[in-house]
Amino acid sequence: MDFDLIIIGAGLAGCCAGITAAQNNLRTAVISKVHPLRSHSVAAQGGINIPIDEQDIELHIRETLASGSGIADADAVSFIVKNAQQSVEFLQKCGSLLQIEQSGELARRNFGGQKVARTCYYKDRTGLSLLNTAYEQALRAGVQFFDECEVFDIQLKSAENNLHTIKTWKKDKGKILNFTSEFLLIANGGYAGIYPRNSNCLGNIGNIQSILFQKGIPLIDLEFVQFHPTGLTRSGILLSEAARGEGGYLLNSQGRRFMTDYDERAELAPRDIVARAIFTEIEQGRGVDSGDGRKTAVHLDLRHISRDKILEKLPEIYDLVLNFTGKDLSQELIEVAPTAHYSMGGLPVNANGQVLGPSLTPVDGLFAAGEAACMSLHGANRLGGNSLLETIVGGFLAGSSICLSKKKADLTTPLLPSLTLDRFLAEAEKTRPEGNGIFSQKENCNLTLPQLTTILTQFPAQEFAQIAPNFSFIIEEIKQSLANGAGIFRDQSRLADSASKLERINASINQIFSQLEERATAKASTDTTSRQSTDSLLAQPYLPAAQELLDLRCHLILSQLIIESADARKESRAAHQRSDFPTTDTNFQAHSLIYLEGSKLMIKYTGVNNGQE
Ligand code: FUM
Repeated sequence: MDFDLIIIGAGLAGCCAGITAAQNNLRTAVISKVHPLRSHSVAAQGGINIPIDEQDIELHIRETLASGSGIADADAVSFIVKNAQQSVEFLQKCGSLLQIEQSGELARRNFGGQKVARTCYYKDRTGLSLLNTAYEQALRAGVQFFDECEVFDIQLKSAENNLHTIKTWKKDKGKILNFTSEFLLIANGGYAGIYPRNSNCLGNIGNIQSILFQKGIPLIDLEFVQFHPTGLTRSGILLSEAARGEGGYLLNSQGRRFMTDYDERAELAPRDIVARAIFTEIEQGRGVDSGDGRKTAVHLDLRHISRDKILEKLPEIYDLVLNFTGKDLSQELIEVAPTAHYSMGGLPVNANGQVLGPSLTPVDGLFAAGEAACMSLHGANRLGGNSLLETIVGGFLAGSSICLSKKKADLTTPLLPSLTLDRFLAEAEKTRPEGNGIFSQKENCNLTLPQLTTILTQFPAQEFAQIAPNFSFIIEEIKQSLANGAGIFRDQSRLADSASKLERINASINQIFSQLEERATAKASTDTTSRQSTDSLLAQPYLPAAQELLDLRCHLILSQLIIESADARKESRAAHQRSDFPTTDTNFQAHSLIYLEGSKLMIKYTGVNNGQE
C-alpha cells in the first residue's frame, strides 16, 4: 500500500500530525500496535501545561529550561510553550474536555517544579480526553488507521529507492502488510517499558528506535530516563503527580513528611529530586513494607483530602488503587516507589521535527514527534505536564513541516492549527552548535543482531516452538540488568557489570538468531513460490513467540545503548546521577549522540542551543 505519509504510532503526536497532513490532502496512514484509543497517550493522567498569560510564557520557558538542567534547547522550549495555547484550543474547539472554572477560565492545578499552577486537566484522565478528540478529527480528515500492526522492518529511502518501505505483521490476521511512502513520521512513544518496574503500556519498548539504530540512525540523550516518584509498587502503574498537586503527602516509615528535608518545594519539587529522595529514604532504612516483606516503598497519604474532592479530581487513581491493591486511598496509606516513566532521549530531530543523521544533517523524508523524538524540550529532566504538550504541538509541527516539504509551501488550505512556524522553520536551517569534542568509541561492538525478517517470515511456527528458547525469561534478565546499571543512581562498577552481562546475553542471542536464520534461509530456498511461508511465525495471529522475538531485539539493543550512554557521561545531571561523579561538569553540557559506524559504536556530544545568536 502506498501513501504520501506513513505515521507509526496512533497516540496524540501521530493523530495530531495526521490531522494536519490529511487536511492538506496528503494520503496519510497511521500504523499502530494497538487500537488508537489504547495508545499510551491515554495513560497521561495529571494534565497539560498551558501558560496562563503572556507573562507566564516567560516563566514557563524559564522553569522548563531550569528543570532540563542546562541541556534543554532554548529554541525548542520557546516554540513549544508559545504554541501551547492555540494548539490545545484547536482540540478543545473540536470537543476535548478540559475542566473549566466558574469564571470560564481553564482550571489549573499545581505540578512539580513550577511556581504557579498552570497544569490544565480533565480530572486525572487528561490524555484520554485529548486523544479521543484527536483520533476523531484524524478520522474525519481522512487518515486511514491500521491497528494491531507490529512493524518488524523499515527500509529508508535510498539512491535506488525513492520511497520508504515499512514491513508490518498484522497481528490479528496473521498477515504481512507492506507499506511505502514518501514521508515517514515516527510517533511510537518512548521506551521506558524496557525497565522492570515502569508506568508504560506494554508496547512502549522502542522497537522503531532499535530498528532505525541498526540502520545507522543515531539516538540522542539516552542516559536521561525519568523515574516518576509515585508508581504502585508491584505493577509500577502511575499514581499521578496530581495526587501531590491536589495536596497529597509522602511519608516515610516514621510517618514523617521527609520531602522537606530535601527541597523547599517538598512534594512538588521536580520529579528527579522527589524520586531520589524516596530512593534515599529507602536506602537509609526508612522505607515501608511494599507488600512483599521488603521495605522498598514510602507512603502516599491523601487521607486529609475530602473523599468528594478525591472522587471529583482523582477518580482514575482512586480506581487504580482500589483495583490493584484493594485499598481505599481516601482512608488508607498507599505504598509507592519510583517507576520508570519517560524517555527524555530518542530520535534526534531539528526544529522542523526532521530526524538528523550522525553528521547532524536531516535524513530525507524521515520525521519524528512526541516522546519518540528528542527536540530537546526536556533536556535532562522533564517537567510534569510538558509531555502532553509536546505530543500535541510537536505532532502539529511535524505534520505542518511534512506538508510544507511536500507542497513547497504552496498550500491550498491553511495549516491547522496555524503555528507560528516562520521563525522556527528558519531556525531549522541553522546547523546545531558544535559539541565540545568529548568523544568515545568502542571497537567491534556487538550491537547488531541478525535481521529477523527471514526468521519471522520463513520459520515454521511449530518447529520454532520446539527449538527456540523461551525468550521471555531472557527479556526479564535484560530488564534486571538495565535497572541494576542505569537506575536512579549509577556508578562505574554497576554500569560495567550490566554492560558485560548484556554483552554475554547479546553473544548468545546472536548465536541463536544466526542458527535460526540459517535454517530459515534454507527453508526459504526450497519454497520460491511465496514471499511468506504459510506456516511461518507471522502467518499466525497473535503468536507469542513472534512477539517475543521482536520484543527481545529492542530490549537488548536499547538497554545496551542506555548503559553505554550512561557510562560515557562522567558527571551527574538531573535524571542521570553518578555516585562516582557526583557533580555537574560544564564539559558535559552537551547532548550525547550514539550511533553505529560499521561495527564501531560511536558516542559524540553536540552543543546545546541556548537561544543566543
Ligand atoms: O503524574 C502525572 O500525571 C504524569 C504527568 C506527566 O508525566 O506529564
